Amino acid sequence: MGQAGVNTVALAIFSWDRIQPTEDRWDFGWLDRIIDKLGNAGIVVDLASATATAPLWLYESHPEVLPRDKYGHPVNAGSRQSWSPTSPVFKEYALTLCRKLAERYGTNPYVTAWHMGNEYGWNNRYDYSDNALNAFRLWCERKYGTIGALNQAWGTTFWGQEMNSFDEVLIPRFMGADSMVNPGQKLDFERFGNDMLLDFYKAERDAIAEICPDKPFTTNFMVSTDQCVMNYAKWADEVDFVSNDHYFHEGESHLDELACSDALMDSLALGKPWYVMEHSTSAVQWKPLNTRKRAGELMRDSLAHLAMGSDAICYFQWRQSKAGAEKWHSSMVPHAGPDSQIFRDVCELGADLNKLADEGLLSTKLVKSKVAVVFDYESQWATEHTATPTQEVRHWTEPLAWFRALADNGLTADVVPVRGPWDEYEAVVLPSLTILSEETTRRVREYVANGGKLFVTYYTGLVDDKDHVWLGGYPGSIRDVVGVRVEEFAPMGNDFPGAMDHLDLDNGTVAHDFADVITSVADTAHVVASFKADKWTGFDGAPAITVNDFGDGKAAYVGARLGREGLAKSLPVLLEELGIETSAEDDRGEVLRVERADETGENHFVFLFNRTHDVAVVDVEGEPLVASLAQVNESERTAAIQ
Ligand code: GLA
Repeated sequence: MGQAGVNTVALAIFSWDRIQPTEDRWDFGWLDRIIDKLGNAGIVVDLASATATAPLWLYESHPEVLPRDKYGHPVNAGSRQSWSPTSPVFKEYALTLCRKLAERYGTNPYVTAWHMGNEYGWNNRYDYSDNALNAFRLWCERKYGTIGALNQAWGTTFWGQEMNSFDEVLIPRFMGADSMVNPGQKLDFERFGNDMLLDFYKAERDAIAEICPDKPFTTNFMVSTDQCVMNYAKWADEVDFVSNDHYFHEGESHLDELACSDALMDSLALGKPWYVMEHSTSAVQWKPLNTRKRAGELMRDSLAHLAMGSDAICYFQWRQSKAGAEKWHSSMVPHAGPDSQIFRDVCELGADLNKLADEGLLSTKLVKSKVAVVFDYESQWATEHTATPTQEVRHWTEPLAWFRALADNGLTADVVPVRGPWDEYEAVVLPSLTILSEETTRRVREYVANGGKLFVTYYTGLVDDKDHVWLGGYPGSIRDVVGVRVEEFAPMGNDFPGAMDHLDLDNGTVAHDFADVITSVADTAHVVASFKADKWTGFDGAPAITVNDFGDGKAAYVGARLGREGLAKSLPVLLEELGIETSAEDDRGEVLRVERADETGENHFVFLFNRTHDVAVVDVEGEPLVASLAQVNESERTAAIQ
């Protein structure tokens, strides 16, 4: 570890069984020795609460702590997180462990942070046990106050689901094949799943904080553009610093997806430093096909995380194990041993990180963009319901498509949760943001009225936060802001021969999966692109993209799914219409340019990453500090980045 420059280790995450081998035996000796050994080598410890996996003896003596699946069957013990967060028995055992750890290590100088749980909710987010049912009833009562309010929120008159009291509230257990869950109930059950785990985390945190009040708490989030296990916008307020586990998406979106996820992480960090708690040196072992990172990507990915605002770069895991479920997962020291390319790269990275730290990188933060792409966990959950206009549309795909299309146009956007300060940006994108609550509606209206520049897409503002449709034509609560009225949707696909599976636009782009039927355009709006289609489709000449004047601002509406490519092609006109300047560089789009700076401007770092698979040649000022996948030509002051 010394050779690699490691200075922090997350420890004992799955070690409850070693710390408490039987109910009445505690063994801290091994942990003492490891913490001491690390500390003496100058390596600090992010010590786990160790509750992620409970010991088998606990499941044996208290099988009631096991969660139940939606069929009511208890989940079997033997993996991770096989416990129900609403089980009072489990909580008692877990909090006892937390207190014991706090008593033993609270004043240990080498323990500098608490690592609570591990990826809360990954395995036990949906629990259908009686404990969960009881907790859900209480949660509903706290939220709605009266059963009448809950009936109204869930629209239970439809399909005769009216409840007489909170004792009749159900969790969405299996109701027979092809049964549809009440969407309001589903959305609340998702929120409840988040809240019960957050409450569990808080109980663990507070148990430790009572004994050890002065060390920071974190827990590793799973922020990635295909995951929405928890509503991390709510969790961010409850930790002292956020940290994230990010695993790369192989293929052409690799770098962009990483940067997009980090853009959201940097917003969740609320201006404080944040960690990449886990990423991989190369392949993982949990996908059907586990591709390796190509040479140089280990370093490139770590530097990209750093550029996007992270202040610590950690890997899962130090040594690749010989046995167990993750033996094929890459690590810092691979099976081949230290005489390996991976370990040499890890050492080189360690030296580079030290160099950047010496140059003052840790006093800087990601320089904020002028464009915010809004992201919303609850909109994602709402679009995951099975009774929607199409199963092809989910919220998350759009923030990523916009992030990439903006990058294609030379703009690295921030990704901001819906409850975050997106209205402080020069321009804002609402990408398939299905839920617009009254509060968000008010913010959107004020933002544009006061001069904001807004992009809105199809599938935005269909419902409020009870999942009730905003009536009168879509997007109901901001129809006048965008200046269009949509009466129907046209989902597309090739499931049936001869069905419409795409629509061409007269700006040369193509819509797939989804188009709005825009039936009227306000006098204050004009059409920027129209559909160009066969007569039988009813779409020929219909408006597809519009721009509206509203108050002192402008709102562009994109009424179809254009994907990254179509958006990238449509954006130059829209950016110009809305008065948003982009970088005039020739290499626009080829290179992801990210900057970090401190408040004084004294420390300022520029990071350049190649987004393509071809070599990109860029001008460089001064002497590059670190260069991965790049050859610097000092006389010409250029760098060729692979
Ligand atoms: C998660 C877990 C780790 C490990 C990795 C493998 O992030 O937190 O314990 O299983 O996945 O990628």
